[in-house]
Amino acid sequence: MIESSDLRMTRIPLSHGAGYMPALGFGTLIPDPAETITATRDALEAGFRHFDCAERYGNEREVGKALQEGIAGGGITREDIFVTTKLWNSNHRPDRVEPAFEASLDRLGLKYLDLYLIHTPFAFQPGDNQDPRDQNGNVLYDQGVTLLDTWKALETLVDHGKCRAIGLSDITLDMLKPIYESARIKPAVVQVESHPYLPETELLEFCKERGIVLLAFAPLGHGMKPGLLEDPVISAVAARVGKTPAQVLLAWAVQRGTALLTTPRSAARARENFDISRLPEDAFDEINRIQIRQRLNPVVNTGVPGFIPQSKSTAQGK
Ligand SMILES: NC(=O)c1ccc[n+]([C@@H]2O[C@H](COP(=O)([O-])OP(=O)(O)OC[C@H]3O[C@@H](n4cnc5c(N)ncnc54)[C@H](OP(=O)(O)O)[C@@H]3O)[C@@H](O)[C@H]2O)c1
Repeated sequence: MIESSDLRMTRIPLSHGAGYMPALGFGTLIPDPAETITATRDALEAGFRHFDCAERYGNEREVGKALQEGIAGGGITREDIFVTTKLWNSNHRPDRVEPAFEASLDRLGLKYLDLYLIHTPFAFQPGDNQDPRDQNGNVLYDQGVTLLDTWKALETLVDHGKCRAIGLSDITLDMLKPIYESARIKPAVVQVESHPYLPETELLEFCKERGIVLLAFAPLGHGMKPGLLEDPVISAVAARVGKTPAQVLLAWAVQRGTALLTTPRSAARARENFDISRLPEDAFDEINRIQIRQRLNPVVNTGVPGFIPQSKSTAQGK
């Protein structure tokens, strides 16, 4: 980890000399296309240089547009930003991997990716339907492909210089271990839910020992209330150090050596979430002692997205 006295500038090295990942990442799981553009632009302006996308989010074009505008506006180059996207479950068959990757690249308007992830370890029936179901509403899984088959297709993308690093998302330690053992190019990153109620300590230790970056999603507990943002320990630390609960949670995540993804949807929150600073050791330890354990997102069990935020206009309409 490239520690800096300024926590906001923390960068974590990726295995295989694949560069550095800025620890503070902006997630683009935003249902509304117009809001995707403004929120991505606001994040870039606030200082975020790491952007997490996915074909499943259906908004790679909008993220790409905001990033291109940011680059064209001057001061920021492609090399200054770190862009990830993810292969969806219905594209796990090896012959579908490169076309899916190229389609994402085209929508994002980029020539290469910094990181490509297998979105979940669950293969769905191959095809253009991202949510294939039988007549009873059960997901149609694909038994004709293994995770290792898909992984090997991702390794080929690295060989061809199309993406600098590859990794996995929504994976458990038990599923990660055999891929790690068999892989020719080891996973550089695993993206999983992690926060003080789900510290994933064992997975984090495994990753640290092998130079894998743990990239935490839901660092604010998906913003759910009641939840982490109102936790008494977090609130007390926030009051003591003169920061907001969100800033405390994000600082904690970076200080324990993970990268993170957060999704502020307004310019003010983007500035707030980027403006983190180091917590005193006693505050850091206090957060580590929180005993509550809660997983918020069940995607890790089924491959079915467990939490899709409502678009603001939809939410208001309800
Ligand atoms: N691999 C996967 O399966 C997976 C699953 C989920 C997410 N992700 C990734 O992780 C990213 C992060 O999503 P997340 O939901 O996990 O992020 P999060 O930052 O934990 O939660 C986002 C929620 O927190 C609220 N929020 C943001 N900043 C805040 C602040 N300063 N104070 C109070 N509330 C605040 C937002 O509210 P407003 O919307 O009102 O601003 C939003 O409802 C996603 O965009 C996506 O890239 C990946």
